[in-house]
Amino acid sequence: MQSEMKLFKEAFDERLKASISEDIKIVIKEQYADAFDVLTDCENSNLIPGIIGPPGVGKTLLLRAYAQKSKRELYWITGDEGVRPSHLVGAFNPSIVLNKGFTLEAFEPGPLLKSMVFGGVFGLNEGNRLSEYVQNSLLDPFEERSINVQRLGRIRASDGFFPVLTMNPEEMSGAHRLSEALRDRVRVWIRLGYPRKETEIEILKLNCPEYKLSDAVLEKVYGLVSSTRMNTDIEIPASIRAGISISRLAAEMTKRMKEKNITHSTLSKAATYVLVGALRFRPGIDPEPAVNSLVRRNLGVT
Ligand SMILES: Nc1ncnc2c1ncn2[C@@H]1O[C@H](COP(=O)(O)OP(=O)(O)OP(=O)(O)O)[C@@H](O)[C@H]1O
Ligand SMILES: [Mg+2]
Repeated sequence: MQSEMKLFKEAFDERLKASISEDIKIVIKEQYADAFDVLTDCENSNLIPGIIGPPGVGKTLLLRAYAQKSKRELYWITGDEGVRPSHLVGAFNPSIVLNKGFTLEAFEPGPLLKSMVFGGVFGLNEGNRLSEYVQNSLLDPFEERSINVQRLGRIRASDGFFPVLTMNPEEMSGAHRLSEALRDRVRVWIRLGYPRKETEIEILKLNCPEYKLSDAVLEKVYGLVSSTRMNTDIEIPASIRAGISISRLAAEMTKRMKEKNITHSTLSKAATYVLVGALRFRPGIDPEPAVNSLVRRNLGVT
């Protein structure tokens, strides 16, 4: 048991290092370059931005790249009804409190407090899903750049603290709305949509560095995923993420079968495996036949 613990610790430390040295691969042009610049402007002018875009369009990646460019950490949390203020700020560890009392040593900081203390980028994903009570606990940190930590005192955020919200467009309306008070603190809204064809193909390539994908295959993958974005039967279309998955799976299947090029049938198979779960159809539409016909229509019959 002792040695397993030691092995785990060594492997864990190694993984920590691997995560720090990880290089972010991002295509920064057009909307991504614009968004990056506006993030910089917001930070310099002390305004809090919100990034709005459909799933998988690169919101998190952009924030990660932004944090890395300025040599900061990205701390983030995804909102839901179960998130309490203590998940954002942190909490006392009762077993340490027993020995040390309510001291800093016994306190385990959460992502919001860490980013305020270390001066990091704080990404709040789907903040609209937080209860109003929790949303309200963000007003002070966002507006005054200060926060009261129970029993420890009020702190002022380090200069590098930069909160950014990310959200899907449909979250702007509907049942889960951003509270008026919090919405009022977000001053600048940056929209990210699906990129242009050439740019999305460049993103596909960047995310499949170990595979050689021909232009013809990339065109087909793009054609397929972009067709789902114009289909009125589909509520949630294929994201960039889905295109990456189809490309990678098709390339790997081809490799396994020791074939030279990705065939029509392999691409269709890979696309079906991915799209069955990636798309959300309007209620009443059976996903499996719908995906089959979508794939057949876009990639052709083999
Ligand atoms: N500009 C880009 N350059 C390189 N890769 C990108 C780019 N945009 C998106 N991607 C890739 O697309 C995938 C989805 O990106 P990301 O997770 O940032 O999306 P998101 O908008 O945060 O999605 P969600 O709304 O689901 O949180 C990732 O694999 C990412 O690497
Ligand atoms: Mg994200």
